[in-house]
Amino acid sequence: MKTKSIWGHPPTRLYNLIKLAENNWGKDFTACVVGCSDGKFLMPFAREGIYVTGYDIDEIALYGGSKLFPIVESKVKYKYSKDFKSKEYKLEKRKVLGVLDRLKKENLEDFAKIEKRDFYRNFPTEKFNVVFTSCSLHYSANKDFSLEDKIKKLQSIVLTNGYLYVDYMMAIEEDDYELYPSSKFFRKKEILNYFDSSWEIISIKENNYPSFEGAHVDCVRDHFHRFGYILARRLK
Ligand SMILES: C[S@@+](CC[C@H](N)C(=O)[O-])C[C@H]1O[C@@H](n2cnc3c(N)ncnc32)[C@H](O)[C@@H]1O
Repeated sequence: MKTKSIWGHPPTRLYNLIKLAENNWGKDFTACVVGCSDGKFLMPFAREGIYVTGYDIDEIALYGGSKLFPIVESKVKYKYSKDFKSKEYKLEKRKVLGVLDRLKKENLEDFAKIEKRDFYRNFPTEKFNVVFTSCSLHYSANKDFSLEDKIKKLQSIVLTNGYLYVDYMMAIEEDDYELYPSSKFFRKKEILNYFDSSWEIISIKENNYPSFEGAHVDCVRDHFHRFGYILARRLK
């Protein structure tokens, strides 16, 4: 039985990354998703028969329980404006499956190891061929670490010739350090400063404009994000 993440379906770029790694190593490689939540980006590896490790700090996303969801009767997509004010939706409690329940329901437990771990505070020693993280660096839990520190920690668990993929949040207003603190939101091309000559940048895309995101689990308001994506390979 196929299960679904509370965060929706993974984007094509995840499947492209899996294909890229398979072109190198077949199924014989290891992957790690830092901030795996309920498995949006982890399940596709396990479904492919690739051994994947997931770390997260959110017990409900790992073990299941209930979470608050906004009650959105009709979805409206708004255009960005600096003083956009969303209404505050009412919330309802819904039962959610954790990543462990999802692995069990899909008979994939042998392909994954899940650990409750605050990655930046309690750093693992294990290294992987593919390391992936999506929209996790900006979490308040990580505010005591600089973006450089967080990127270096992610890099250090990538094996030689392995890949690091990071989806990250960028400042919508580059000069506004109050709304977009430097420990959470990247400035344009900033991330490139944190990859030295041991890395080859395979691709980087940074959106110039914010994209709309409707209220979602744990978030009562419609809002905007500006995203960046980087894929790099460790050369040595
Ligand atoms: C926003 S969710 C992922 C949602 C999905 N990335 C998406 O794009 O729709 C990011 C996850 O990272 C986890 N996370 C944040 N900081 C972490 C840390 N220091 N260690 C482990 N997990 C962390 C959060 O608990 C959360 O489950």
